[in-house]
Amino acid sequence: MDRSKEGPGQHRKPTHLVLFPCPLQGHITPMIQLAAILHSKGFSITIVHTQFNSPTPSDYPNFNFEPISDGLSTDQTQMEDVMALITLLNGNCHGPFNDLMAQMLSEEDPRGSIRCIVSDALMHFTQSVADHFKIPRIILRTSSATSFVTCAAFPLLREKGYLPIQDPQSEMPVSELPPLRIKDLPNISTDNSDTLYELVAHMNNETRASSGLIYNSFDHIEETALAKIQQDFPIPFFPIGPLHKYSSGSSSSLLPHDHSCIIWLDKQAMESVIYVSFGSLASMEKKELEEIAWGLANSGQPFLWVVRPGSVRGSLSVEMPDGFEEETQGRGLVVKWAPQQEVLAHPSVGGFWTHNGWNSTVESICEGVPMLCWPCFGDQKVNARLVSHVLKVGVQLENGLEREKISWAIRRLMVEKEGEEMRRNIRKLKEKADHCLREGGSSYESIDKLVNCILSF
Ligand code: UDX
Repeated sequence: MDRSKEGPGQHRKPTHLVLFPCPLQGHITPMIQLAAILHSKGFSITIVHTQFNSPTPSDYPNFNFEPISDGLSTDQTQMEDVMALITLLNGNCHGPFNDLMAQMLSEEDPRGSIRCIVSDALMHFTQSVADHFKIPRIILRTSSATSFVTCAAFPLLREKGYLPIQDPQSEMPVSELPPLRIKDLPNISTDNSDTLYELVAHMNNETRASSGLIYNSFDHIEETALAKIQQDFPIPFFPIGPLHKYSSGSSSSLLPHDHSCIIWLDKQAMESVIYVSFGSLASMEKKELEEIAWGLANSGQPFLWVVRPGSVRGSLSVEMPDGFEEETQGRGLVVKWAPQQEVLAHPSVGGFWTHNGWNSTVESICEGVPMLCWPCFGDQKVNARLVSHVLKVGVQLENGLEREKISWAIRRLMVEKEGEEMRRNIRKLKEKADHCLREGGSSYESIDKLVNCILSF
């Protein structure tokens, strides 16, 4: 019998998958979206999660949830050093996850025997647990393929002296990875710079040891990078994005969405509003917040700005500069957290000032909204270069934030000819994104391959 042809429901034993997200907003959301896709294909789903940033099980009656101890102190859950947090999670979760797997495997489970572990790339310790129990592990990479190509090149970049980065503002091209410059290479502020290199080395090694790789991406936005990964990592490969178009996953939001902004958007002119949000982790100096505020005010464009608690380093509450509210009354709205996918799909939104987290970038492409790119750390710089210089659907703000530069960049995007060109380009990509999800489209087919691959284990 050719087992690759059976569906999960047709197989004698039920098929049970264990999913392990990394407990950060930009990683939980795509894992939940993937869980919904796999559930719709007939698999039973258990989501293993940490206490830190725990999802709300009652929001997902179709999934089973298993909490494990993450060993983090309250101070550790609040630290700004994301690299240190991820390193701690990889160390602390190993034992509890191992114990949970041993328990689940020893029980007669009505959900069926565990066929496979699907885990976030950052949770690289799950590979050794999978190896221990001789269970295949498939990786979900929630960031771009282009950024992974850059990470995979880290040994070469170190050998050639690009890394560690000496001058983070250097415009010097990285000839091995066009069109990247030194300043675009993944970087993150951390107390111990070795943690980034160690994490990347682990991810590269454990990718080779895994049984497959899932991407929230599709051919038309990352053709070159996806082909390169396929060539360099000879493991089953599934670019199935854009994930949020199968099911929104918006219920996985860790902060409550403020829906009043949709009512406000309803009153604005078509494509007039610039939506501003820098994701769930990026933070800025107080001075930068002031420049953004006055840049928005002086641009003359209507704006919707997400200012998360914690957006300004060193304080939980955020105060707007004096006179800003009076100056922008009726033309601007500031909220703590927005229903972003709904906002980007709103006809009044004509531009997105983003940090280019990969979820935000894909969500913007899928709604045909051109971007003003202000990458902050990690993969975001690579993504911004892809958006501005390869796809040509955005313009990048560089070399410091100044109010005059900001208002000019907003106008370039929203009202100048250059912006029109980007809008045309991104609309074409939106059509391609729609197409790849339909029968015969590349992501549609990759999902079928993923299902068959899991069933063949
Ligand atoms: C992190 C990293 O920073 C990013 O570089 C990496 O690619 C993924 O993990 P984050 O910074 O939060 O993610 O950015 P992003 O990937 O864009 O994810 C943010 C998510 O939060 C998006 O799905 C977005 O729709 C959602 N969001 C954001 C809201 O729902 N409301 C908001 O107001 C802002």
